[in-house]
Amino acid sequence: MEGIHTNVWYVDGNVDSEKVYPQVVEAAECLQRNEVVAFPTETVYGLGGNALSEEAVAKIFSAKGRPADNPLIVHVASRPHVEKLVSHIPKQADKLMNAFWPGPLTIVLPGGKSVASNVTAGLDTVAIRMPDHPVALALLKAANLPLAAPSANLSGKPSPTTAKHVIHDLSGRIAGIVDGGSTGVGLESTVVDCSGDHVTILRPGGVTKEQLEEVVGEVNVDPALSDEGQKPKSPGVKYTHYAPTAPVTLVDGSPSYLQSIVDKRRAEGKKIGVLATEESTATYRADVVIPCGTRADLISVANRLYDVLRQFDESDVDEIYSEMFTHEGVGAAVMNRLSKAASNRVIKE
Ligand code: TXA
Ligand code: MG
Repeated sequence: MEGIHTNVWYVDGNVDSEKVYPQVVEAAECLQRNEVVAFPTETVYGLGGNALSEEAVAKIFSAKGRPADNPLIVHVASRPHVEKLVSHIPKQADKLMNAFWPGPLTIVLPGGKSVASNVTAGLDTVAIRMPDHPVALALLKAANLPLAAPSANLSGKPSPTTAKHVIHDLSGRIAGIVDGGSTGVGLESTVVDCSGDHVTILRPGGVTKEQLEEVVGEVNVDPALSDEGQKPKSPGVKYTHYAPTAPVTLVDGSPSYLQSIVDKRRAEGKKIGVLATEESTATYRADVVIPCGTRADLISVANRLYDVLRQFDESDVDEIYSEMFTHEGVGAAVMNRLSKAASNRVIKE
């Protein structure tokens, strides 16, 4: 590994976020010195840095190898912190904060002049979320700073859902990591734009469109999410993401059709991996078959997805074929991430 020494602080994932823990205080002091520290949230691990410091934010971009035009989400532990970071809080945004915070919902708000300019990549809006994880909240309180935090993976790779994933990608590149065990949702937060007249989903995630509509009525979806020709409003959405080393192809068809593709490729000498579900795992013959949750509960698929994509990287498969899922509910987020992992390659039966 390169560069600097990466500290690991072990913390129980169920700490009381109102209490003070020496490991958390050490990590917070590191953040106050404008170093960057990875920490668990209820979605994925984040790579945190002082959102008010250009120097700290530059370290985040450089550790991840992240393109500078992709803005960061600012994490806060309380509402007063939000008010300091935006020009005003639109009514719809206020309703969403009350309903879903702390939780896996990022809200794009007008303003953002008080954060370091590299956080927003020159946009006149700022994305903010209050994470629902006791370790994240304890760290935010101890640091007493808003923390800019993208997912703590190398740019392009699947987001980390365990400290081991973070260490694999970023050891030697960051000052430390607070290891609080596995994350919860397993996919990143839903990003909604509340800076204009309508509420628009820019990135699907743990909070579904249906849940948002119960609180604010009709919600739009950025057309770029389903049409590659459109320019996405969320700059990060355009980049390759979540991709294992071996190319992934989605198969829109039955397990037996997927098997026929696998058989053909193996006959041509390729080592093949299959991303399956608990229902179908036993039916596949391939070099590596990994179950990714159960179709009976798409949340279990979301939970497992990034770990499964990373497991394929530990095998020597040449190609990966994956089952597909419905776009309903959490399925929208699962299919969004899988399609990106597959660079939109789909074979239809
Ligand atoms: O669950 C999550 O959201 C995790 C955890 C660590 O909180 N974070 C995360 O960050 O996924 P990241 O950087 O991997 O994704 C942030 C997304 C990107 O697609 C980025 O373009 C978008 O949010 N974004 C950030 N600021 C924005 C803004 N002002 N307007 C539109 N999109 C923005
Ligand atoms: Mg990310």
